[in-house]
Amino acid sequence: MSRSYYIAGNWKMHKTRAEAAELAKALVAQLKDGKHKYLVAPSFTSLETVGAIVKGTNIRLGAQNMAAEEIGAHTGEVSVLQLKDLGVQTVILGHSERRHNYKEDNALINKKVKLALQHGLEVILCVGELLEEREAGKAESVCETQTVKGLEGVPASELGKIVIAYEPVWAIGTGKTATPEDADAIHAYIRKVVGKLYGDAAAENIIIQYGGSVKAENAAQLMGKENIDGALVGGAALKADTFVPIAKFG
Ligand code: PGA
Repeated sequence: MSRSYYIAGNWKMHKTRAEAAELAKALVAQLKDGKHKYLVAPSFTSLETVGAIVKGTNIRLGAQNMAAEEIGAHTGEVSVLQLKDLGVQTVILGHSERRHNYKEDNALINKKVKLALQHGLEVILCVGELLEEREAGKAESVCETQTVKGLEGVPASELGKIVIAYEPVWAIGTGKTATPEDADAIHAYIRKVVGKLYGDAAAENIIIQYGGSVKAENAAQLMGKENIDGALVGGAALKADTFVPIAKFG
């Protein structure tokens, strides 16, 4: 298998610049001999500070969102051009908190995906079902729709810059993790969906992270599954003591 593990920390709306710098420095020191691919995604306000610390290391700089437009009268939004100016390499798009709390739909997320790719950014496209959707037997179809619509118009030549994160909404920040078996089944399904769109080789190569209450205690079991290629970590990414053991699993 050619896929490598990719472990990302989503710091959400946490940390002042000083706090973000402290964590970034600790991660640089403790992950310098790490074997996997790493990313941290601080708040916009800490991107410049954290970017200066992770520059030239094995930790990528990510943003948690971006505007669907490049420039103009969009009060409160942050442009891809501004992110690139700060050295951002990756952007997380379609996170469930954006989809459900800020009402971002598939069309808007797709617009952002294409804009980010046009500007050479890597994209972590998040997909995942709500609890009621899982209980209604719709987990696969929800993830399929979010994947297909999120990638609409993305050419095969750009797929190498796409990472998918499967994050069942009921597992985010709740302490409930999908079992490794249940998560792997959805990952396999998403891989099949990518295969239908882009062919078998693309499906084999795409990195699919799992997210939702990942911690040191469950990371190895989850990532031990055939189709789980890494993790998108929220709560446990806020401290080096809890993130490093996940990042160094295996
Ligand atoms: P959590 O968040 O690890 O706190 O569940 C994951 C995420 O939302 O990316």
